[in-house]
Amino acid sequence: MELQGRRVLITGASRGIGEALASSFAAAGARVALVARSEGPLKEVATRLGGTAHPADLLDPDQVDGLIDRVEADGGPIDVLVNNAGWDVPAPLVGHSATDVQQAIQLMLVTPIQLCRQVLPGMLERRSGHIVNISSLAGVGGFPGMTTYCASKAGLTHFTAILRAELKGLPVQTTVVEVGPVPTELLDQAKSYKPTADGFRRLARLQLLPEVSREALAAATVAAVQRGRRHVRLPKRAVLFPMLTEAPRRLTEILLTGVKPR
Ligand SMILES: NC(=O)c1ccc[n+]([C@@H]2O[C@H](COP(=O)([O-])OP(=O)(O)OC[C@H]3O[C@@H](n4cnc5c(N)ncnc54)[C@H](OP(=O)(O)O)[C@@H]3O)[C@@H](O)[C@H]2O)c1
Repeated sequence: MELQGRRVLITGASRGIGEALASSFAAAGARVALVARSEGPLKEVATRLGGTAHPADLLDPDQVDGLIDRVEADGGPIDVLVNNAGWDVPAPLVGHSATDVQQAIQLMLVTPIQLCRQVLPGMLERRSGHIVNISSLAGVGGFPGMTTYCASKAGLTHFTAILRAELKGLPVQTTVVEVGPVPTELLDQAKSYKPTADGFRRLARLQLLPEVSREALAAATVAAVQRGRRHVRLPKRAVLFPMLTEAPRRLTEILLTGVKPR
């Protein structure tokens, strides 16, 4: 998709990867619409990039309900949806409260699915659109202390693959981003639990999981939208992990050749 003048909604854009994504999409000529809870930082990013800010708590189903309609009423149709907002509870499952479990799945799986469901009818009607789901290499492998986080990311990766199959032949593309460690608040938080930090350290020592800069990740994601690519997988040297877990999905795709998706 040519991004000049297109409108891109990015969740979790008040800092970290979301802020970098917003800067890269804006640099490519897109108009950005930004969502997060922290109104001050969100408005600062939106003002700097000439976009719009739409403060919302994506853990609250009432605020998620109708969010796409509200953003579209304030600035026009959304051409690209980027589900990026995320959060981690650095603790073993026995240290999680019932709310911690519910919120991890809500923020990083249920809300992205709801926003895809909300945005798709307009994209299909306009015969143009692209959905980017920021998943993680944690969707295909993970460390102790990351149970619910990894489960939500595995769910988001798989959801995106099946959504893509459902949209086959229609003018709406999908990209799933499977990335390793990116230095942000979320990564610092995850590493505050020693077994998680030890897992990252071990794979880094094996030269398998070097950190990826948020700018490099944002640039690769923008390029994937421009070129209609289904995956962003970084760091490149870890690409075998998502490719192996993708194999049964690709096999299913081949076995379904000729079966109509609708
Ligand atoms: N950093 C990594 O190593 C890494 C690796 C793979 C994947 N990822 C994924 O990348 C995405 C961004 O993570 P990050 O590392 O950039 O984290 P971050 O720096 O902590 O930023 C998280 C963003 O999500 C927003 N957010 C959190 N809870 C929210 C809520 N309830 N409602 C609305 N917005 C909310 C935060 O804004 P407010 O607090 O203002 O709401 C913030 O803008 C996440 O999905 C994460 O899983 C990160």
